[in-house]
Amino acid sequence: MTNAQFVVVANRLPVDRQSVDEQEVWRRSPGGLVTALEPVMRATDGAWVGWAGQAGLDLEPFEFEGTLLVPVPLSADEVESYYEGMSNDTFWPLYHDVIAAPRYRRVWWDAYVRVNRRFAEAAASVAGQGATVWVQDYQLQLVPAMLRQARPDLTIGYFHHIPFPAYGLYSQLPWRKQVLEGLLGADVIGFQRVADASNFARAVRRQLRYQTKASGITVPYPDGTTRNALAKAFPISIDTSSYAELAQRDDIRARAAEIRESLGNPRKILLGVDRLDYTKGIRHRLKAFGELLEDGRVGVEDVTLVQVASPSRERVEAYVQLRGEIESMVGRINGDYDTVGHTAIRYLHQAYPREEMVALFLAADVMLVTALRDGMNLVAKEYVAARTDNRGVLVLSEFTGASDELTSSVRINPHDIDGLKDAIVRAIDMTPGEQGRRMRAMRRKVLVNDVAAWSKSFLEALEQAGRSAS
Ligand code: F6P
Repeated sequence: MTNAQFVVVANRLPVDRQSVDEQEVWRRSPGGLVTALEPVMRATDGAWVGWAGQAGLDLEPFEFEGTLLVPVPLSADEVESYYEGMSNDTFWPLYHDVIAAPRYRRVWWDAYVRVNRRFAEAAASVAGQGATVWVQDYQLQLVPAMLRQARPDLTIGYFHHIPFPAYGLYSQLPWRKQVLEGLLGADVIGFQRVADASNFARAVRRQLRYQTKASGITVPYPDGTTRNALAKAFPISIDTSSYAELAQRDDIRARAAEIRESLGNPRKILLGVDRLDYTKGIRHRLKAFGELLEDGRVGVEDVTLVQVASPSRERVEAYVQLRGEIESMVGRINGDYDTVGHTAIRYLHQAYPREEMVALFLAADVMLVTALRDGMNLVAKEYVAARTDNRGVLVLSEFTGASDELTSSVRINPHDIDGLKDAIVRAIDMTPGEQGRRMRAMRRKVLVNDVAAWSKSFLEALEQAGRSAS
């Protein structure tokens, strides 16, 4: 069909379909991955294979800002079984340490195999001879092996954006061998943390009996020959400079002041920003804050918590239940502690553009990231990137990938509610001098390790792997 030399395969296309003046138009999605890969896509005549985000939408490939977009259609049934079911009600909870119970349903698995094959076929049809294909994330774990079988000439990379669990949990998966074999179709399998890569290597040794040495895995072909796959950590990041630029804009600074004003100018603003997901530890955060109010260690005239919880996966039962729990907690805490002029928690079940997020980051004295398990947590890095004034405190769960790099944050175990309460108070009371020292150290890391550096290091490793394979 076409001859793309670089192909990205992801569950979602890098665009959103929006209605403007009763016309359907495509807008670039705000994510960092999209921004990071844009220059690579332009320079290489790239193609991006993905789902357009609506059930039943069957579209021809089309050009968007210099990239060929190749939509993969999903029926309403497949959205339910492949996306909501197998991806987000099986893999998601299993890979996040079974915080919610994973459901193992054979019909979901069948749909997952079928849909992964459709993605692999679409990628195979647009990739030119000897092209590089980069598969993204847990929705598409079978694509690397399917692609390799159809197109042995390709160099194939895979990046896993979420955690890879310890072997004792991974081994629950009824299709544990097939998934490992699927991933091992790639030349390079990237993970967020060193621990994820070693969990994967251990699963490969235990389940498939393949040999592993440092980051290398020896993968046998049926004819007895072997090839080498690399499984290694490549911690993802954000487009740091664009956050820093927004943070310097006068209108955004004015908006930050306006936000503080509209909250009644409390002495300190605490902020949480998450997809409404049970992995994010929002309940733990609310519990700690509620207890601080109850103990009288903070008061609503003095401290307000702003919690942005953007809607996510709203048809999956565990998410429906979580929303109910969070909203009843917020209602109870606000009912008990609000005054006519001040609120304890300003809860926003909405998604905001990047400009508004940066204004919120600038308005917040303390950023609370209390995830129970998170592959990376880019919000933590966004907060640091936006604080060009070297002020503000990041309270960060040690169960996030980001905590490996952001060691100057106030690190917490979100399960330890007393420890979390103490950390919040410490963050509220931290001197400007200590805030500056910590923030500068974190900013240095996020400035150097941005998303462009991430994609560059992954693609260099992939190119090297491709060279040694040919
Ligand atoms: O990083 C995890 C991830 O599932 C991404 O693959 C995805 O883009 C994001 O979270 C949002 O999830 P969803 O695509 O299910 O709305």
